Amino acid sequence: MKSRVRHICSYLTPARVFADIGCDHGYMTKYMLDRGLCERAYISDISAKSLAKAETLLQEHIERGACIPVVADGLRGIPERCDLVLIAGLGGEEIVNILQDIPLPTRFVLQPMKNSEKVRRMLVSRGAAIEVDHTFSEGEARKKYYDLICGTNAGGDKYSELEFRYGRDNLNGKMPVPFLFQMEEEREKLIERLSRPALGDRSRASILEKLNETEEIIHDMQTTLRDRR
Ligand SMILES: C[S@@+](CC[C@H](N)C(=O)[O-])C[C@H]1O[C@@H](n2cnc3c(N)ncnc32)[C@H](O)[C@@H]1O
Repeated sequence: MKSRVRHICSYLTPARVFADIGCDHGYMTKYMLDRGLCERAYISDISAKSLAKAETLLQEHIERGACIPVVADGLRGIPERCDLVLIAGLGGEEIVNILQDIPLPTRFVLQPMKNSEKVRRMLVSRGAAIEVDHTFSEGEARKKYYDLICGTNAGGDKYSELEFRYGRDNLNGKMPVPFLFQMEEEREKLIERLSRPALGDRSRASILEKLNETEEIIHDMQTTLRDRR
């Protein structure tokens, strides 16, 4: 199991009815069912071909009636309320589209591949309580970075502009290290872009603005980490 999948699984909590939306291979549902962490799991994918992979992996659980496969867009084909909904590996805009016209799930675990800010804004505007909001990484030499956002529908959370853009637990020091590496890589990329010839004034100004913000964030995080020692 890849470390991205393992990391997400570690945030899956016991549930009566679990749904894995955009399940593809179905590894996360297998984690839930093999450990008896849910009574029933729906595996859903918009692509029948993708769903077939999960159906093969979860055949035994399907045969005993604990796993129900559905070909559908988002939660549309799921006939009952789920108390834990996982949507991982999809774009943030797709996640927003899936959740925006239905009641927020009681508990959600979301791992957007991009546009995490849009997911945070949608959740907070709808009164979610966000309990986990951090960046994690996979791989050693060439790290890939992912965001994880988990919480419940009972909240009324408030977020600052920076928290919307960068993730709350990255900034408040709960989970600073992967994000710090990501910001340091971002700084290198911005410096490289600044050195390119024929850069227009407006592009230069916007890169410089982004670089300043990135450096401020790195500085604040390094201070937080130093103060902890
Ligand atoms: C990259 S895979 C992610 C698989 C798995 N959730 C993971 O995190 O490893 C994305 C899956 O989402 C499915 N998908 C995309 N849009 C969807 C939607 N609106 N509703 C359900 N499934 C969707 C795709 O068919 C694909 O199988």
